[in-house]
Amino acid sequence: MTDKNLSQLPPVNAVLNSLTKYGINFQMYDNVRVEPTDHSFLDAIKYAKKGEFDAYVAVGGGSVIDTCKAANLYASSPTSDFLDYVNAPIGKGKPVTVPLKPLIAVPTTAGTGSETTGVAIFDFKELKIKTGIASRAIKPTLGIIDPLHTLSMPERIVANSGFDVLCHALESYTALPYNMRSPCPSNPINRPAYQGSNPISDVWALHALRIVAKYLKRAIRNPEDREARASMHLASAFAGIGFGNAGVHLCHGMSYPISGLVKNYKPKDYNVDHSLVPHGLSVVLTSPAVFAFTAQIHPERHLEAAEILGADIRTARIKDAGFILADTLRKFLFDLNVDDGLAAIGYSKADIPALVKGTLPQERVTKLSPRPQTEEDLSALFEASMKLY
Ligand SMILES: NC(=O)c1ccc[n+]([C@@H]2O[C@H](COP(=O)([O-])OP(=O)(O)OC[C@H]3O[C@@H](n4cnc5c(N)ncnc54)[C@H](O)[C@@H]3O)[C@@H](O)[C@H]2O)c1
Ligand SMILES: [Fe+2]
Repeated sequence: MTDKNLSQLPPVNAVLNSLTKYGINFQMYDNVRVEPTDHSFLDAIKYAKKGEFDAYVAVGGGSVIDTCKAANLYASSPTSDFLDYVNAPIGKGKPVTVPLKPLIAVPTTAGTGSETTGVAIFDFKELKIKTGIASRAIKPTLGIIDPLHTLSMPERIVANSGFDVLCHALESYTALPYNMRSPCPSNPINRPAYQGSNPISDVWALHALRIVAKYLKRAIRNPEDREARASMHLASAFAGIGFGNAGVHLCHGMSYPISGLVKNYKPKDYNVDHSLVPHGLSVVLTSPAVFAFTAQIHPERHLEAAEILGADIRTARIKDAGFILADTLRKFLFDLNVDDGLAAIGYSKADIPALVKGTLPQERVTKLSPRPQTEEDLSALFEASMKLY
């Protein structure tokens, strides 16, 4: 499984050659939509049901890997309704109890870390928001992290997928701690995939953040810098292991309507025919406002993150941690020519009520924010993200 653009590029070629060389009988589906929707998931599910495959190989970014997880799940549970496994309150959030087929994920971005997570995200067209399916059962059986697959990524795809790694690390490190979440599920099978920050996910998040600080700019600016591209590819998987267990919070929760309500934005370097706000861009644009807001709780973690990202904190006061991290992020984004806030991708103040409305059902992640938020808080966060510099 892959997308149309990648089907012409070296990573897919390498996989097809390998399958052919070892005499594996296969079919290729290259109709994955970049930033998948419920419709595009359903198309892949139909294909998977019809093919009755023994195993799946997903070659691509998060869009491809997520689509393949959904195809595997519903082909393995053919009588289920699409909404059965979709996160509540949008879907029924049923636990997965059927066995799935093996899925080998070959990521080509750096990235979503989707090769490590039990999450598949799609844009629910009817509601104009992104939501997803979250269950350990859909985690790929194997991830093949080969940095050569990232060498063909154009500049903005490296940048935007790298911002996703940055936010996965920052959000999972600052998420509500696992022992402060409530209520406890009545049965362990109902435990959410995202359990809150914990000592194990912290290790992965911090390590990924250090790599992002050292290598993201280099990976964006120089496609020949193999050390930087390889390091970011690993950071993507590391951050995935971190957030896949701890979860993410407000940048991601607010990103889902930012992507879902897209107007005419056509990002540079994306070889697609529809408007889209790339996932990494949709999460990073609110990051300065979000961390200025959440730093009240665990300010020391926010300050530590700012320091890792290059801030000089020798004379910093702990109560300024949020502003320091926000300023550090703004500078980081400015240096990388990122669009100047939500206004630059087509939103205005008049869109804020719809953006807030689209964030409210994202409780799976917004409840992991260390600081609870009201509708007014969300409104203020969107407003503060209209312009960054
Ligand atoms: N499952 C998870 O845990 C998880 C986590 C974060 C994001 N996501 C989801 O993943 C999706 C975003 O995935 P993504 O950022 O990896 O990008 P993507 O899969 O949407 O791909 C973006 C573009 O990059 C191109 N591309 C990918 N690899 C390339 C390469 N090596 N060379 C040239 N072009 C290449 C693709 O063809 C596409 O046009 C979103 O839908 C997002 O919501 C999922
Ligand atoms: Fe993400």
